[in-house]
Amino acid sequence: MVTLVAKKLYIKTYGCQMNVYDTVRMTDVLTPLGYKTVDSPEGADMVILNTCHIREKASEKVFSELGLLRRMKDKREAAGERMLIGVAGCVAQAEGEEILRRVKQVDMVFGPQTYHRLPEMVTQALGNTSGRGISDTDFPVESKFDFLPEESNHQGPAAFLSVQEGCDKFCTFCVVPYTRGAEFSRPVASILEEARRLVANGTREITLLGQNVNGFHGEAPDGSNWKLGRLLRELAEIDGLGRLRYTTSHPNDMDDELIATHADLASLMPYMHLPIQSGSDRILEMMNRKHTADKYRKIIDKLRTAVPGLSLSSDFIVGFPGETDQDFADTLRLVTDVSYAQSYSFKYSPRPGTPAAGIEAQVPEDVKSRRLAMLQELLSAQHLAFNQGTVGKTLSVLLERKGRAENQLGGRSPYMQSVFVKAPERLMGQVVDVKIETANPNSLTGTVVTGDYENVGAQAANLTGTGMEVRI
Ligand code: 5AD
Ligand code: SF4
Repeated sequence: MVTLVAKKLYIKTYGCQMNVYDTVRMTDVLTPLGYKTVDSPEGADMVILNTCHIREKASEKVFSELGLLRRMKDKREAAGERMLIGVAGCVAQAEGEEILRRVKQVDMVFGPQTYHRLPEMVTQALGNTSGRGISDTDFPVESKFDFLPEESNHQGPAAFLSVQEGCDKFCTFCVVPYTRGAEFSRPVASILEEARRLVANGTREITLLGQNVNGFHGEAPDGSNWKLGRLLRELAEIDGLGRLRYTTSHPNDMDDELIATHADLASLMPYMHLPIQSGSDRILEMMNRKHTADKYRKIIDKLRTAVPGLSLSSDFIVGFPGETDQDFADTLRLVTDVSYAQSYSFKYSPRPGTPAAGIEAQVPEDVKSRRLAMLQELLSAQHLAFNQGTVGKTLSVLLERKGRAENQLGGRSPYMQSVFVKAPERLMGQVVDVKIETANPNSLTGTVVTGDYENVGAQAANLTGTGMEVRI
């Protein structure tokens, strides 16, 4: 009898949700080759770094990780064992040749648009005796989505589904248009198929992904073109799919039809990530955002009218070249006026090849740090206030991951808050009602009070009332 020993695959994911999705799809592609994922590079037959190039720090992490991996590989090879190293994602796209030149232990570099060709790359890499790794950083004419395996068993109760990729907006600070390529929307039929398969495999919540997801315009089965609102309405019809979200949106593509969809669809969760980057019109113009702070405020007003209680999130960059104290004060004022439930804020990081990196008036590092600390203090107080506002309320939570403590599960409220409860593992994948007890800026704790939990009986009842606090 021949026993097939699974080959160990370790993929480390950096950066955005798009990369998380891509990692799942790479796993799908490699599964038929006998690879099975493990959670450490130790002893793995293949290690892939799925990288992020958005800020300098993100890129640096890749090179330091490669330093560790190259030593690990040298040791393994000295012991006669084989270990393939692949670098995927946006650093591979932008700096693939440089990686191969600097780290000769790297066997493959490939960009975000070519991982459907991984099986051929792996075969090639295994037979490669040239002493230099192979590279595939094309923007191929074929779409990877047409070549990925249909079946994906690697997503859980809350899944990502990529519907749109790339960006034509060319914000002057951003590498995405260069690393992910031109804007592309997947055809509706393949999105619906993937969504139905996910739900059949136990997914209850789908987050549609795209660098410019609300700019989605996919070809529909009848040959017409559907925008995001229409797609969401169709997805909402899928039985068993209780929750929908989408990210990331651009203010200029937030049209009235999409806003109306929020008012109409109960399964569209009351959370919106809508980056503004800066509250200063002068900086927004230099960023090539093509909208003003006022236009953004008006969109927020419309969204809040359509969905009372909506939780809002944004991205901010401080210290963009030429940003003055006044510009920064405009950002603080906008944040004060809008009030955010969540947010992501960064110091401007000059990215090679982007227009803003060439502007002379770069802001000194200490000024950036000071501004970031001030902004984050304000935002953090808003996050806490939003979370505290839900204490005592009962929120529905999709339990989708284990917490750090024993008998603890975690999930998201409709407002995208992280919620931790004590609950038996068999509630994983269920939407339960949770009475919220404590709040901090990043998460909530509470007790499961109704829903499926009631069916669990006395044993489970013993577990209630012991909400644990966990920081994420
Ligand atoms: N420097 C700092 N932050 C950046 N982002 C994108 N490019 C840069 C950069 N060069 C931030 C933006 C974007 C988020 C994904 O990353 O806020 O919305
Ligand atoms: Fe980057 Fe701007 Fe495109 Fe967003 S909209 S991906 S920030 S270029």
